[in-house]
Amino acid sequence: MAKVKTKFYCTECGYESPKWMGKCPGCNEWNTMVEEKETIIKTAGVQSSLTQTKEKPQAIIHIESGQEPRLSTTFGELDRVLGGGIVPGSLILVGGDPGIGKSTLLLQSSNALAGTGLKVLYVSGEESLRQTKLRANRLGKLSEQLFVLSETNLQYIEEAIDLMKPDFLVIDSIQTVYQPSVESAPGSVSQVRECTSAFMRIAKGRGIATVLVGHVTKEGAIAGPRMLEHMVDCVLYFEGERHHSYRILRAVKNRFGSTNEMGIFEMMESGLREVKNPSELFLQERPLGVSGSIVVASMEGTRPVLVEMQALVAATNFPSPRRTATGIDHHRLALIIAVLEKRMGMFLQNQDAYVNVAGGMRLDEPAVDLAIAVAIASSFRDMPTQPFDVVLGEVGLTGEVRAVSRAEQRVKEAEKLGFKRIIMPESSLRGWTPPKQIEIIGVQTVAEALTAAL
Ligand code: TYD
Ligand code: MG
Repeated sequence: MAKVKTKFYCTECGYESPKWMGKCPGCNEWNTMVEEKETIIKTAGVQSSLTQTKEKPQAIIHIESGQEPRLSTTFGELDRVLGGGIVPGSLILVGGDPGIGKSTLLLQSSNALAGTGLKVLYVSGEESLRQTKLRANRLGKLSEQLFVLSETNLQYIEEAIDLMKPDFLVIDSIQTVYQPSVESAPGSVSQVRECTSAFMRIAKGRGIATVLVGHVTKEGAIAGPRMLEHMVDCVLYFEGERHHSYRILRAVKNRFGSTNEMGIFEMMESGLREVKNPSELFLQERPLGVSGSIVVASMEGTRPVLVEMQALVAATNFPSPRRTATGIDHHRLALIIAVLEKRMGMFLQNQDAYVNVAGGMRLDEPAVDLAIAVAIASSFRDMPTQPFDVVLGEVGLTGEVRAVSRAEQRVKEAEKLGFKRIIMPESSLRGWTPPKQIEIIGVQTVAEALTAAL
């Protein structure tokens, strides 16, 4: 019997090597090489160009562009994350934990797109046609233009695409599809790489907008080589906690739009429902008039979202107190604690401090600093905050409160949701007229903010 040839592939960057190495020479990562059967590509397809036609260089001023027409999925939240809809011929990768709702999201958007008259092909490598139908039945009225295929062999999938010529294609999931001429198992580095490049050719060459569903590894990255993320046009992550019904869709890469946007959905009995006003959702369970809780107006992309910031400060006997940050950067927490100690004279060295953004949101912008400071001070002094206050502002190292971006939008959102007062940087009050219904307290220092809030 002929000996099976194997090679080692890096799971991070796809580097190939005949022997195992502890450190990948391609990306310098440790312990990323895995052994797989050698890739033998019999077809010539891989070497051909993206569009499979010979192109001549053209003067850029003569290229017709116009506005790229975008396909609307009818899900406003999904469209926004994609930068205003799906660009025809683009390749999109959607990752997320198992059971989070990727298949549901894509089946629902496929059905919605089919409802607008487009031809849609949904390929499931994980479920039979009957199982897909059972799931789809829960989603409401189904469109005649939605076609489903239960197949994992790339060649058969390509044949079906040729036959049907869809406008929109979903592959659920890329780890189940295999190219028969590649000998390694589905889901392996070489299979995922080959299949993705095949779908890239299909998407670009035939102008079919394609969505690949990707499984994630234990570390939370999309399984397969990192190159997978470089090959596609957009990478979206669908996240959320299993115990909560809402889900957050985020773009981590987008060639056709911003990566700051996020879309919020709620998982219902009848599939996913868009959450058009996320602030209401995040403030639902907020306790009123307690210490250590304050509402902050944060920007998620172009949209203001009000979220509750919580802090718990408790005395400890251990020499090095705990500092735990959930939903904010822990360096930021350390900095704010240092400012409170040095500038406000709070003795926090024998106190554990936990800070949490309620509802599992992640707030990465400096405009939430002042809310962290207020929440910590409120818990430390055990003084409740006013239930209808909103706090925003960046905190500097001397204890000054600095301006924030898009102050007007944040204030309007707070007003819309019925908040009574907003404590914010004085320097952000110039150049616009604040609404009358909300009291605005401009502050210059953390000390002033604490006096106003507590
Ligand atoms: P699914 O889309 O299969 O997740 P993924 O493809 O990311 O693995 O989602 C599965 C979960 O969603 C499952 O726990 C059942 C739940 N679900 C609903 O709550 N309502 C529905 O209408 C559907 C279709 C699923
Ligand atoms: Mg699935």
